[in-house]
Amino acid sequence: MTTTPALTTAPATPRRDLQDAPFLVAARGGRPAHLPVWFMRQAGRSLPEYRELRVDTGMLQACDTPELISEITMQPVRRHGVDAAILFSDIVVPLHAAGVGVDIVRGTGPVVAKPIRTLDDVEKMPRLLPTALRPVTDAIALLLAQLGQTPLIGFAGAPFTLASYLVEGGPSKNHERTKALMRAEPAVWHGLMSALTEITVTFLQAQVDAGVDAIQLFDSWAGALSEADYRRYALPYSARVLGSFEDSGVPRIHFGVGTGELLGAMAEAGADVVGVDWRVPLDEAARRVERAVGGPRAVQGNLDPAVLFADRASIEAEVRRIAAEGRAAGGGHVFNLGHGVLPETDPDVLTWLVELVHELPG
Ligand code: CP3
Repeated sequence: MTTTPALTTAPATPRRDLQDAPFLVAARGGRPAHLPVWFMRQAGRSLPEYRELRVDTGMLQACDTPELISEITMQPVRRHGVDAAILFSDIVVPLHAAGVGVDIVRGTGPVVAKPIRTLDDVEKMPRLLPTALRPVTDAIALLLAQLGQTPLIGFAGAPFTLASYLVEGGPSKNHERTKALMRAEPAVWHGLMSALTEITVTFLQAQVDAGVDAIQLFDSWAGALSEADYRRYALPYSARVLGSFEDSGVPRIHFGVGTGELLGAMAEAGADVVGVDWRVPLDEAARRVERAVGGPRAVQGNLDPAVLFADRASIEAEVRRIAAEGRAAGGGHVFNLGHGVLPETDPDVLTWLVELVHELPG
């Protein structure tokens, strides 16, 4: 009798015991001695050492090279002393690994060679085999050997945000083809979202098995939807993704931009930590979340990344306001920006910001 070969690339790595790491304490709703902080897009163009490494290497090529993934992930940890590392990768990496024709164009973002708009397109979408994620899982192994007590965050794009890139063929301001498709062709939409859910679970499972300490689901463009549409066309799939990791032992962060009206629904999808952009104060965000799920959840955020271009006194005032709102929220607070670090940000301001946040109680 033949046995089916294991689908994972390697046996699950035992997770490091980092129970006291401030980031993980806060993510579970506790109060660490100091307020933990990391930045979305902390690895990237704001760092000269990143720009140097990427001179001759395309984005997806970098994401396919374990040594580069590991080195780029470590750069902001060494430079800023942040409380968590986030794996250097991209939301389109699992699509690329599955064989969907996609590239990341500098200054534009993900561009899809053949947009997916028909049932035939959906049926022909390749599936993601965990073995195709070897560069990612190998990079995680390299990182766990270097990170010491610093937790590592794995991530994926949520099905809706990935679907928008696939249907539009690239970045979109209004998501008009996506919104038309979900209404006019529900079978195509739900088929596409189911396929993306499976790819996303596979991508996150590989990272969890390789030993990441937390996961973040980026639904960056969910804020383009009304709450009713979000609940109907996106939430069930994000809930399936997040529900797959309920018993994984790693906290699940759920983040979107412009999602003030969706915070309750996004928490209902199954998050331990709700990421908040700068448009809603953290204490108000926490109230919306608590009302929706009937108990407190940790919040993450929410300094406007553009504020980092102001003078230090103005930045400090914003940091202290946000820390106070995070404490008032009462369910754990991970300090972060409300969206990614902007490429022109002065990295010395980020280092100073980490020192400032660390002076504040968790
Ligand atoms: O430090 C980190 O946060 C980890 C790395 C990370 C990247 N992309 C690296 C990256 C993460 C978490 C992402 C997620 C991602 N990618 C999202 C969700 C988060 C968000 O910003 O809302 C989205 C929507 C994408 C798609 C994407 N990839 C865009 C819009 C871009 C920018 C295109 C550009 O050149 O302006 C990318 C490319 C990308 N992903 C870069 C980095 C560091 C820049 C590539 C470069 O340096 O040339």
